[in-house]
Amino acid sequence: MTRLIEIEQGTVTSSLPEASFRVRHHLAEHPLFRLERLAELAASLPADQIEFNGPVDPNQDPDMTPSNGMTPEETVRRIEDARSWLVIKNAETDPAYKALLDACLDQVAQQTDGLMGAALDRQAFIFVTSPGNVTPFHSDPEQNFLLQIRGSKRMSLFDHRDRAVVSAADSELFPGKHRNLPYRDDFEAKATHQHIEPGEGIFVPIFDPHWVKNGDAVSISFSITWQTQETRRLVKLSYVNAVLRRFGWPQAPAGNNETWDWVKIAAYQALRPLYDAVKKLVGDRCKALAIFLGRKAGQATA
Ligand SMILES: [Fe+2]
Repeated sequence: MTRLIEIEQGTVTSSLPEASFRVRHHLAEHPLFRLERLAELAASLPADQIEFNGPVDPNQDPDMTPSNGMTPEETVRRIEDARSWLVIKNAETDPAYKALLDACLDQVAQQTDGLMGAALDRQAFIFVTSPGNVTPFHSDPEQNFLLQIRGSKRMSLFDHRDRAVVSAADSELFPGKHRNLPYRDDFEAKATHQHIEPGEGIFVPIFDPHWVKNGDAVSISFSITWQTQETRRLVKLSYVNAVLRRFGWPQAPAGNNETWDWVKIAAYQALRPLYDAVKKLVGDRCKALAIFLGRKAGQATA
């Protein structure tokens, strides 16, 4: 099979790498990433699989994010002048993109002796961005390869364990909480800066916060994300810790007390079906309550 992604031998020594590393790929000329094909994809998917907006800055308030007044399909077709940012989520719902995602992650598993294999919950995201646009400061609850297809990007990447950059409360996940994080210019001295061009990519460790600035041309990036058993466990612990914080009982990060972590995971597994049932019953009211609680916690720790 054609080599799609290349990881230098010896780069990956752990199933959960803590630092970003660079990779090379051969997707820049792939027909699935031509603008015309991406516009077709955007038009074919349900509205909730596409997120897009007008110009933003690294510290963008999610509630004040400007609309660009176009449909997703128009946004892709007019991206050169749209001053916009657009992400197609779960592109793997289209079989062609699913096959490409699987091929990439299978090759990652082969090249890392299975260390980064197992690749559960595989997802593909495609970012289409106007020249100079910005993806605000945020973190993601999954492992990720960001592969640059067209144009260039500069990512400022931070260590999620640095409490001077992200508070303990902001580092935890909570239903309904927006992924964007508070940003200050003085954080930048602590960033690792990664510049990627077509054919280049970077590994983004789970939870490591980052913001991204486009170069002066249209940018297309393919983001392939996945979970392992270990990252699934970290995500569950993050949710439990956030809930306990809201009950006035802030927790040490995962790994501080293995037994207590085990108890929290067991509680999560037991209570999650109940949460899902209530959520199904009350729908948006549940989300509104979660957002309200999230804000209260944010105010309490500001
Ligand atoms: Fe991200």
